[in-house]
Amino acid sequence: MAFQTIILAAGQGTRMRSALPKVLHEIGGKSLLGHVYHLAAQLHDNEINVIYGHGGEQVLAALSELKTRWTEQKQRLGTGHAVMQVADWIKDDGTVLILYGDVPLLRLETVQKLIHHANATSIGLLTITLDNPAGYGRIVRDGNGNVVCIVEEKDATAEQRAIREVNTGILALNGGMLKGWLQRLTNDNAQGEYYLTDIIGMAVGDGIDVDTTQPGDESEVLGVNNRMQLAQLERMYQMRQANLLMEQGLTLADPARFDLRGEIESLGQDVEIDVNVILQGKIRLGSRCKIGPNVLIKDSQIGDDVEILANCVIEDAKLGAGSRIGPFARIRPESHIGEQAHIGNFVEIKKTEVGKGTKINHLSYVGDAIIGAGVNVGAGTITCNYDGANKHLTVIEDGAFIGSDTQLVAPVTVGKNATIGAGSTVTRDAPADQLSLSRSKQVTVEGWQRPVKKRG
Ligand code: UD1
Ligand code: CA
Repeated sequence: MAFQTIILAAGQGTRMRSALPKVLHEIGGKSLLGHVYHLAAQLHDNEINVIYGHGGEQVLAALSELKTRWTEQKQRLGTGHAVMQVADWIKDDGTVLILYGDVPLLRLETVQKLIHHANATSIGLLTITLDNPAGYGRIVRDGNGNVVCIVEEKDATAEQRAIREVNTGILALNGGMLKGWLQRLTNDNAQGEYYLTDIIGMAVGDGIDVDTTQPGDESEVLGVNNRMQLAQLERMYQMRQANLLMEQGLTLADPARFDLRGEIESLGQDVEIDVNVILQGKIRLGSRCKIGPNVLIKDSQIGDDVEILANCVIEDAKLGAGSRIGPFARIRPESHIGEQAHIGNFVEIKKTEVGKGTKINHLSYVGDAIIGAGVNVGAGTITCNYDGANKHLTVIEDGAFIGSDTQLVAPVTVGKNATIGAGSTVTRDAPADQLSLSRSKQVTVEGWQRPVKKRG
């Protein structure tokens, strides 16, 4: 049997006060519409159709990788009108699920429960009971508790407004029946809109049951209409992720100060994360690694027993087992830090291989370099990798010792176990096992006297 999902996303989102269409605003680093799409995409053999409107070109351009149909609703004449745009696409013998593009935290289990109620004799409708039902369509039931219809707040009587069970807008039903009812919708109501909700009353009139399902909690059905709600849903989403990760054994110093904007692809045992850590993109965390406070890590692989001290920024890098980074270090893309290596404070590493046990502990820039094992790079060492036009490679072989304040003018190689004297500007290859230095000779001026301040 066919399965189809319609995502309603033509709303303008005026209250966001943004140049960006509402559904492109992000939660956890993913657009609102992206969240809804990915939920739908988890359902087996699901054909998806997104109804877009305002800012449509921007939405299509930003989300072109989604495997969905896109249908434009040129005029925003209501939720029923939105669904009418795809009436020809809806299959008679299948199930249709309706989702909202601005309701990003709905859970798969809830949708699966809902779909279960959609068949030849019943509709599945997701409802929730709220302390404050203002703004929502109310679920009207008869004396036996059966759903009779949905009445929008603006069309409701005072008595109906007192009903606290509301329509979430999310429902699942047979495609053929939906098409029949769409044809009968009118805009004869307080808002002059084609209400999708009117099909509930029609279904009941046609002898179809309306089976209601409730979400696990309210967060699942909250929509985003303004920046306050966006921020609230962000925290709810982050708390969900934090809870899942803690269930898997992660220690978080404070789950309220943790942000995952992407995905932890693998998580080792006994990992500890201090406050204000942001993990972005795809991250792998080995066992027993410790991440200090105020660290940003993007698209990186962190090995076992790695220690990242406070205030580091790490992007597109691999950190080998037992390595120690920071505090205040920046590891830039295409860097690979070897096992047991130490990268210390105020060190910037870019597109560099750092060998096992190598130490670059203080105030250095190392870019476009291949550094062997057991190398000691002294404080203030700089690879001069850029000649203004091209980038060049610096190679430092195993066991070399680079004295402090050395400039390595690339392309250049420092041989195995070589020593570079402090303060050198290295412009030619330095041979293995030998001391090389380039330093102007120190002189002492005999009889020199320090000037004294003149009087008067
Ligand atoms: C709708 C329901 C209401 C329910 C509420 C839940 C109707 C008539 N009312 O209210 O019962 O309690 O959702 O939030 O359905 N959209 C379009 N095209 C349109 C109109 C809306 O794509 O022409 C989309 C919006 O982008 C949004 C969704 O449909 O994602 C709901 O629209 P919204 O205006 O928020 O619905 P309400 O009328 O407030
Ligand atoms: Ca709404």
